[in-house]
Amino acid sequence: MTPANGDPMGWVKPTPGGAAHTVRPATGTRLDPWIGSYADRTHGMRASEIRALFAVANRPEVVSLAGGMPNLEGLPLRTLAELSHELVLSRGTTALQYGSGQGDQTLREQILDVMRLEGIEAHPDDVVVTTGSQQALDLVTRLFINPGDVIVAEAPSYVGALGVFRAYEADVVHVPLDEAGLIPEALEEVLTRLDHEGRAVKLLYTVPNFHNPAGVTLSLERRPRVLEIARRHGVLVVEDNPYGLLGFENEPLPAMRSMDDSGVIYLGSFSKTFAPGYRVGWAVAPHSIREKLVLASESAILCPSNASQLAVSTYLANHDWRGQIKAYREMYRERRDAMIGALTEHMPEASWTVPDGGFYTWVKLPHGIDAQAMLPRAITALVAYVSGTAFYADGQGANHMRLSFCYPTPDRIREGVRRLAGVVAAETELLEIFGAGTDAHREADAVEGAGPDVH
Ligand SMILES: Cc1ncc(COP(=O)(O)O)c(C=O)c1O
Repeated sequence: MTPANGDPMGWVKPTPGGAAHTVRPATGTRLDPWIGSYADRTHGMRASEIRALFAVANRPEVVSLAGGMPNLEGLPLRTLAELSHELVLSRGTTALQYGSGQGDQTLREQILDVMRLEGIEAHPDDVVVTTGSQQALDLVTRLFINPGDVIVAEAPSYVGALGVFRAYEADVVHVPLDEAGLIPEALEEVLTRLDHEGRAVKLLYTVPNFHNPAGVTLSLERRPRVLEIARRHGVLVVEDNPYGLLGFENEPLPAMRSMDDSGVIYLGSFSKTFAPGYRVGWAVAPHSIREKLVLASESAILCPSNASQLAVSTYLANHDWRGQIKAYREMYRERRDAMIGALTEHMPEASWTVPDGGFYTWVKLPHGIDAQAMLPRAITALVAYVSGTAFYADGQGANHMRLSFCYPTPDRIREGVRRLAGVVAAETELLEIFGAGTDAHREADAVEGAGPDVH
């Protein structure tokens, strides 16, 4: 209802003297009257391509090869319900209370057991529990990045990290990957160039295991080389490792943090090895940084959820969590096989990475096809993916797409790839008839080295 002063939005406020003055920011628009008031960094925020897709991709008739949601069907739900019930009855006043800013002591000790599987020896004091590793990414970026500082990141990189980096106005400089992960020679070259340009390079952000979105793993041989290069250039390494325990063939590789405890901030998460709904992740940082992480986290959220932490802690103490991870590995391996088999059968003209673990494969489309432009046609054909462009800060990736095999059943994965192959074939035919004359196709063609593309 329009108020008596005739101002439907309620922006006109009476002054003490009785006259009205307008508080609507001069640069406001009808859609957002506060547009002129936002901080500069807010203008850099935008919905990720994945989020924009979510509404359509989640319709049941669409096979979504887009999202990165773990499949939770194998979880022991009855056991979890009983543990939660018992937790609230026996320790409810602790679980539902505020807790420590650094996180629950018992859980931090249990996290050490999890990290030992990747060779990390740390002290519970080194661990900061966070609301998912996403919050840890936010805290680390907040601690180190002034607007214009450089973060070096793989090409392609995790879309959620790019969103955080953008929010803090970092300049992301990409370094290429191949099938053995980040290329040390390319890293050396980029850091040397940035040094010569006098740029402040603060962080190297890397997902060494079963990379999101590229599916590749940094080889054992490259790990110390990458660390040595970063150290020599004075760059702190952020090792983001939510998938490391989800290998299909081999035991986990030693974490980079296990090789260097002073130059690496390690980020871990229970989202993929247990359940993302609890939102429990963690950071392990060198001592001085760890204190600042706790301060930053306290100012952001006071403390991570005690209820979630105790639920995770109870699960770890009372359930065979290693067995659960083994079951996940087997389930995801079967889905990976379904996807790679279907790609081989239906899309021989494309190329892709074959991941040894995790959730994703990175597909290079036939020459000239633009994954972003093709997406609406794929959705019409009831299959969804994420265009490669989502994973770059600089517009690369148009000739690539990320396919995830974590959520749908093997049959649905095969059906999804079959549908996608039909869309790619129609697109290829159009290209043959009309040529690669559109701007989008020209751009897709112009991109070189947009990530690994091995069969
Ligand atoms: C590479 C990477 N880092 C971090 C995250 C965030 O995970 P969390 O649920 O722990 O916040 C994800 C989630 O998909 C991811 O793929």
